[in-house]
Amino acid sequence: MTAPHLFSPLAIGPITVPNRVAVAPMCQYSANDGCASDWHIQHLMTLALSRAGLIVLEATGVERIGRITHECLGLYSDANEASLARVLDAARRVATPDTAWGIQLAHAGRKASTQRPWEGGGPLQVGEDPWLTASASALPFADKYSTPEALDSAGLERVKNAFSKAAVRAARLGFDVIELHAAHGYLLHQFLSPHSNKRTDAYGGSLENRMRFPLEVARAVRAMMPARMALGARITGFEWVEGGIDTTEAATFANALQAEGCSYVCVTSGGNVAGARIAVSPNYQVPFAAAVKAQTTIVTRAVGMIADAAQANEIITSGQADQVALARALIDNPRWVWHAAEKIGAKIAYPPQYERATAKLWRGAVLARPG
Ligand SMILES: Cc1cc2nc3c(=O)[nH]c(=O)nc-3n(C[C@H](O)[C@H](O)[C@H](O)COP(=O)(O)O)c2cc1C
Repeated sequence: MTAPHLFSPLAIGPITVPNRVAVAPMCQYSANDGCASDWHIQHLMTLALSRAGLIVLEATGVERIGRITHECLGLYSDANEASLARVLDAARRVATPDTAWGIQLAHAGRKASTQRPWEGGGPLQVGEDPWLTASASALPFADKYSTPEALDSAGLERVKNAFSKAAVRAARLGFDVIELHAAHGYLLHQFLSPHSNKRTDAYGGSLENRMRFPLEVARAVRAMMPARMALGARITGFEWVEGGIDTTEAATFANALQAEGCSYVCVTSGGNVAGARIAVSPNYQVPFAAAVKAQTTIVTRAVGMIADAAQANEIITSGQADQVALARALIDNPRWVWHAAEKIGAKIAYPPQYERATAKLWRGAVLARPG
């Protein structure tokens, strides 16, 4: 058996992806009341050709108030589902059949009701149709953010049901993977972190209690998914503040998720404490993924400032993670995977329509792809 590398297949629970590159979820802030638009058509059709083994669609609100902005994608209505069917069906028709498609199901909690990043990114103001947000505790995310409502038992049930219903819709749409967003300071992370969760009931205090709601959501979602689909989660490996979640707590959470039927975790960091100082540099979150991987048996994905083929390959060959996710590098260059395969000497199937642009058939590729 040869050692795993960037272009070796990977089993993730019931599915197998053809290589170790995943497209990280990326909000496009281009939906209409949660419905995918023509922007999503071009975005996902472009990524469909990327040859990434797994493409995870952006954070998708499971209820209307769970969207980050008015323009975030949602999966809480029949109209949302129909709009996504149009986009996904088109993208799947041009992707190679072994490409796996995932959707990130999310609830923004107290970080909802904000402007799009390019409109300021701050909390919506009077006149911008703001809404009452929900969280583990009635603690605003930061200055100028409104105070969220602490979810009571009916609220917890409502949110859990919203995740379940969205999972049913995702299964009907033919997704291969559901990724729960339990990171970046959104609702499930708000429950997990002692910085945002000050509850005194069964959902706050000890790690076991803080994990309770995210695990209940995972269980509810898994119960709605057919066996052919994989469930995963984006988790935080480090909060970049004293007394926050660290890799030991993250590994405990990953193990508990696995017990609920999760097949992978994508280890990211930060986002829950405003003003936390995050030391960003290439591979900056890889040690968090490696630490989680060392303490678990779940498939572990690394993400964050991975932009070079050799760098990505090394993360896999050194055993620090089983899979890598790229966000900005794939937006910057949707042909990243093709070029990475060329550099590493791996064979992937190019769309025959575009084959004449590859290094094999066009010497100009040397000029076009320096380094
Ligand atoms: C435009 C954009 C949108 C993003 N939206 C999401 C999202 O919907 N869900 C999520 O978990 N992370 C989101 N992220 C974070 C990325 O998935 C990724 O973790 C981060 O950008 C670091 O990876 P990179 O250095 O490869 O870009 C977003 C990042 C960008 C640049």
